[in-house]
Amino acid sequence: MSSFDVNKIREDFPVLSQTVNGKPLVYLDNGASSQVPNLVIERGSKYLAEEHSNIHRGVHYLSQNATTAYEAAREKVKRFINAKEAKECIFVRGCTEGCNLVAYSFGRKFINEGDEIILSQMEHHANIIPWQVVAEEKGAKIRVIPMNERGELILEEYENMLNERTKIVAITHVSNSLGTINPVKEMIATAHKFGVPVFIDGAQAIPHFPVDVQDLDADFYTFSGHKMFAPTGSGVLYGKKEWLDKLPPYQTGGGMIRTVTFEKTTYAPIPEKFEAGTPAIAANIGLGAAIDYLNSIDFEAAAAYEHELLEYATEKLSAIEGVRIIGTAKEKASVLSFTIENVHPHDIGTILDQQGIAVRAGHHCAQPVMQFFDVPATARASFAFYNTKEEVDKLVEAVQKVIEVFA
Ligand code: ALA
Repeated sequence: MSSFDVNKIREDFPVLSQTVNGKPLVYLDNGASSQVPNLVIERGSKYLAEEHSNIHRGVHYLSQNATTAYEAAREKVKRFINAKEAKECIFVRGCTEGCNLVAYSFGRKFINEGDEIILSQMEHHANIIPWQVVAEEKGAKIRVIPMNERGELILEEYENMLNERTKIVAITHVSNSLGTINPVKEMIATAHKFGVPVFIDGAQAIPHFPVDVQDLDADFYTFSGHKMFAPTGSGVLYGKKEWLDKLPPYQTGGGMIRTVTFEKTTYAPIPEKFEAGTPAIAANIGLGAAIDYLNSIDFEAAAAYEHELLEYATEKLSAIEGVRIIGTAKEKASVLSFTIENVHPHDIGTILDQQGIAVRAGHHCAQPVMQFFDVPATARASFAFYNTKEEVDKLVEAVQKVIEVFA
């Protein structure tokens, strides 16, 4: 293993030191939600204890302080993903809202009858259903980039799909059910050759390696805070200014207007245009603190360490007879989905829980992936940089126990 000091890092995450069912917690459900470091907890408490107030609305001391803290978090996001301007970073409740915002807003304005929307076979439901709704309403067509048996997108097929009817490509950066890292930079460049914008679901990428939206040249990129060590209810939709300026608002109400009469409303510029109502102020200030935390550790070393852990776990689990790894792409991050012959994944999850090991069992909101691999569900271990090799050994031991129980 690399020299990354995981024990020191673990001290930053209080939840990790508890016991579950009399065993030390082994938290391997980071793909669903990651844990929160002290820095974020303390920042949240300080806000609630000393600073809470509504933002952008008051001239009073507390409101101004809360507004400053909220906008400082936006600046941190901007630097973290290397957006050109902070106003290109819209706060949303999470990745799902980011997907819905772009699908409905872009769809309403730019998608018409006969147009095509390109998705991939490994999308999370959040990046399928909003596009389906838009396609149905507008009479547009969804086209799906297929994948191979390893769970890698077939890029030649993708290139052949792009044409003058294509209005947008919406794909995931990292698959939540397979762990595949898609070559999104290359896929964006291909779409741009046809003048087609690209929306990236970055929920499973952003906690695992540095993302630079300008380098990727992504038109839209969305992610949730709660998968990157921040509270639930925080999240970001990045969009290039030229696109966000063109899109109509997604939700309307307070905070997003310039003027309102009963005859006509004019809208505020970005980012306010997309932030109707009181936002998740505490959660997004927490997201800013999570970014501070990631900046305070060596994030690249953490990513490299986590990758070694994934490789170690893959090697150990693949060696067990009866275990099938679902998703064996060359480029993977964090996720290890697997099945055990003759054992339902929910039983795997339950027996692992008795050992204090938290994994997710189910279809992972990616039913088309399950259909492709012809499985009802998988068990999924998903790692963060605070997991250890010893925890992987415990997972392997527990999987062996499951096999013994069902033998
Ligand atoms: N989308 C989250 C997951 O993959 C909830 O578990």
